[in-house]
Amino acid sequence: MSKNFYITTPIYYVNDIPHIGSAYTTLVCDVIARFKRAEGYDVKFLTGTDEHGQKIENAAKKNKQKTIDFVNQISERFKTLCKVMNFSNDDFIRTTDLRHKKGAIEFWKRLKDNGYIYKGEYSGWYAVKDEAFYADSEIKDGKAPTGAEVEWVTEESYFFKLSAFQEKLLAFYKHNPDFVYPKSRMNEVIKFVEQGLEDLSISRTSFSWGIPVPGDEKHVMYVWLDALTNYITALGFPNTESLDYKKFWPADIHMVGKDITRFHAIYWPAFLMAANIKLPKQIVSHGWWLIEGEKMSKSLGNVINPINLVQEYGLDEIRYYLIREIPFGQDGNFSNTTLHSRINGELANKIGNLVQRTLTLVFKNCDGKIPQIQESLISQVYDSEEILRNIKTICHQVREKIDQHQYNKSLDIILKLAERANEYIDEKAPWSLKETDIEEMKKILYVLCEVIRCLAVLLWPFIPHSSEKILHFLGLNYSEVTFETLHQKFALIPGQAINKPSIIFKKIG
Ligand code: MSP
Repeated sequence: MSKNFYITTPIYYVNDIPHIGSAYTTLVCDVIARFKRAEGYDVKFLTGTDEHGQKIENAAKKNKQKTIDFVNQISERFKTLCKVMNFSNDDFIRTTDLRHKKGAIEFWKRLKDNGYIYKGEYSGWYAVKDEAFYADSEIKDGKAPTGAEVEWVTEESYFFKLSAFQEKLLAFYKHNPDFVYPKSRMNEVIKFVEQGLEDLSISRTSFSWGIPVPGDEKHVMYVWLDALTNYITALGFPNTESLDYKKFWPADIHMVGKDITRFHAIYWPAFLMAANIKLPKQIVSHGWWLIEGEKMSKSLGNVINPINLVQEYGLDEIRYYLIREIPFGQDGNFSNTTLHSRINGELANKIGNLVQRTLTLVFKNCDGKIPQIQESLISQVYDSEEILRNIKTICHQVREKIDQHQYNKSLDIILKLAERANEYIDEKAPWSLKETDIEEMKKILYVLCEVIRCLAVLLWPFIPHSSEKILHFLGLNYSEVTFETLHQKFALIPGQAINKPSIIFKKIG
């Protein structure tokens, strides 16, 4: 069985700098990518920027900059975000990259050669903010269903024969009922397609910031057609013999926000069917972050810059909070109160405290070494101590939650292990045994060190930096963290030197 795994984020519009919503989408993908790597998969994790279209051209004008200078600058901010957030993306594609433009042009030619593109005139509503066309029936109070302003557009346009794919799409959804996660969004997509599909305008002539249509260069490609192809141009398309393409297409997961599910679950599969290319395996759609109960918007002045948050609270504190706080798939509410209580109540009190108190005891009472128990005792404690016996099951449960896209719940399970370990240390009170039963004290501290090691391994996809720090305290220096190391055969070596522990998560105010 192939152990390859390809996951993508949406590519981000560069009309503005990154906010907490865009950081969230990429973070979820980072957690999954790291998780799969830790499981032994060969992973490709792609992100990037969507740089063409009217919205971007307008933003550059407003900023009084040449469009290319403007997009270069903002795209760089998204690259910086990847570094600041410790994202492990393997590639960063820009739609202004030559490799992308070439691939998108070839993709267009395929659709044309296969008879799915024709020329006509588009007359209808367009929302620049969404870069989307809307039917008359969708317009309410003069606005798009998303609340975006619309304008009436009449221009010569190329069309994609989307209507030819209604039945094929419905048949595909029927055979692949999990194509869209969550189910409720799959149902919305099916309902939309059942109502009938109109051919889609796929070129514009009223501005020029885009990829020229091959053979008719007064047209530029519709930005969504251009953008969606990034998922294959990043693999080398049209070279379908490239190593990456052969290994990674079709994608395992296209992660998207709920607002762009329609483009990925309807247009993209139809384009791919028309080009005779395999369809991605799953579109996973997440909810939105609200800020103290309100939609995030420039006009409300409540847009949160993730880099500022990281500076204020620490990187892993923010990574943890974003994954933990939102029930995946639903909207979540960002508030300082919940942020503080997750950091203090969970990271600092449960995980940080466990590591700090245990390793300080070990450092002081075991000569700065992993407690020197006899090697033969290791398998004995793995059999007799429930807390160690359970690690295999915990790992299995965490994997199950990740595969079910319940990322917040996977953290629940890991946190329970920390809670159990805190109870264990209280119950066993190893500090009280120093004078009376030093061998028992060493055994208990060894068990706790092992639990902490496994806890750090399980937490690695979520909070990699802190996890590596904990492993370093334990004297370990894994070149890569894998779940294989959760096995007893990788247990800590008694007598091995450890490093002096320090605080991992600082409490807030
Ligand atoms: N460029 C398109 C995607 C093209 S993919 C071929 C686009 N870009 S975007 O920058 O507007 O949005 C990118 C992602 O950020 C989307 O998945 C969107 O749902 C997500 N978010 C934007 N605001 C958000 C929140 N407030 N909360 C969570 N995610 C949000 O759409």
